[in-house]
Amino acid sequence: MTTVRKIHASEILDSRGKPTVLVTMELSNGLRTNAAVPSGASTGVHEALELRDRDPKRYHGQGVLKAVANVNKIIAKKIIGLPTGRQEKLDRAMIALDGTKNKSQLGANAILGVSMAYARASARAENLPLYRHLGGEHARVLPMPMMNVLNGGKHADNGVDFQEYMIVPGGAKVFREALRWGSEVFQCLKSLLKQKGLSTGVGDEGGFAPVMKSNREPLEFLIKAIEDAGFKPGKEVAIALDPASSEFFSNGAYRLAAERRTLGVGKFIDYYETLAKQFHIISIEDGLAEDDWEGWRLMTEQMGKKTQLIGDDIFVTNIERLRLGIERKVANAVLIKLNQIGTVTETLETIALAKQAGYGVVISHRSGETEDTFIADLAVAAGCGQIKTGSVSRSERIAKYNRLLGIEEELGSRAKFAGFGMVRTCGK
Ligand code: PGA
Ligand code: ZN
Repeated sequence: MTTVRKIHASEILDSRGKPTVLVTMELSNGLRTNAAVPSGASTGVHEALELRDRDPKRYHGQGVLKAVANVNKIIAKKIIGLPTGRQEKLDRAMIALDGTKNKSQLGANAILGVSMAYARASARAENLPLYRHLGGEHARVLPMPMMNVLNGGKHADNGVDFQEYMIVPGGAKVFREALRWGSEVFQCLKSLLKQKGLSTGVGDEGGFAPVMKSNREPLEFLIKAIEDAGFKPGKEVAIALDPASSEFFSNGAYRLAAERRTLGVGKFIDYYETLAKQFHIISIEDGLAEDDWEGWRLMTEQMGKKTQLIGDDIFVTNIERLRLGIERKVANAVLIKLNQIGTVTETLETIALAKQAGYGVVISHRSGETEDTFIADLAVAAGCGQIKTGSVSRSERIAKYNRLLGIEEELGSRAKFAGFGMVRTCGK
């Protein structure tokens, strides 16, 4: 029997240069693994709590030494000696030890670091790749990437209200082709922006962040870039949006600063519908705000048959909130972020409920990432066929794509890729 021999947390930096938690685990057979925790910027108010020190003398209060100490001094005591392969037991023990609803006592960052490191350690102990350990023998669907090539909102300072404009190369037959298509469109987009004298500096998730006149203009650029790269918009490469609209929702309305106008929910849904038709938009995430349940219901009724509507801030990978959504006919897909809920077990439970209800599942990175590639394996394990892990630049994003290339190669002829086939709408 292999057991946990040592566990050690450290403070490291994420892709924005902000502190985050790294957990290293050593097993009784000498094997060592580690895991690093991601961090969001447009975080939903219902997410599990990311514990930060609030010590103004270090990292402007953003240090994570308290979370680190919670792992080293409190959680470690509980799990040293635990055999590998008992993920649920470990995660439930940490949830009980924390004792709060949102993991605010120990910190979701502390708990998740341990949970991920343990999953990896358990995989190593069984001599299995992580996707196979988490997903079993049938885990072999590579996800279609939704690549965030144009950034706005909280991830850039360019006057664009919508946070993410993504290209979706779902017409490809295999993952590596999809990745190549995405990369080629990204390069064409760069040339186009240069020609127009616009900035090609990149935002937090590696997409360009040029100053634009409206929320429509990025869509015009994307269609042109898809065509320039030699692909058919909609058929081969489609478009997806994550407006992250909780960020510009106030007093019951949506304020589009880029267009100097404020829209009520009905008008805003009509606006989306027009954009979706004109620009081959197949998927919209967080089209409406995190607590605008009635708006979400209307949007799902009006657009859900044709468009995948993904709940991120509204569901926050939380099974209770997702259950409410299913009951209220809100959205038809869920975004999955490990650190929104804080354990691997709860993440897998939320995925299972979504699949059972016929909802689409999209595994996602955070805007603050590290070189950790856990989500690549999680996407294959979940067999959900969709991943959001940024643009085709910046190593913390590319690390996930490279891991997926590795998994595809390892699976060989057993690897599957469903492309647009895994995109969910209410009719499907
Ligand atoms: P975040 O953004 O990681 O900053 O929350 C990603 C998203 O909204 O999907
Ligand atoms: Zn989002």
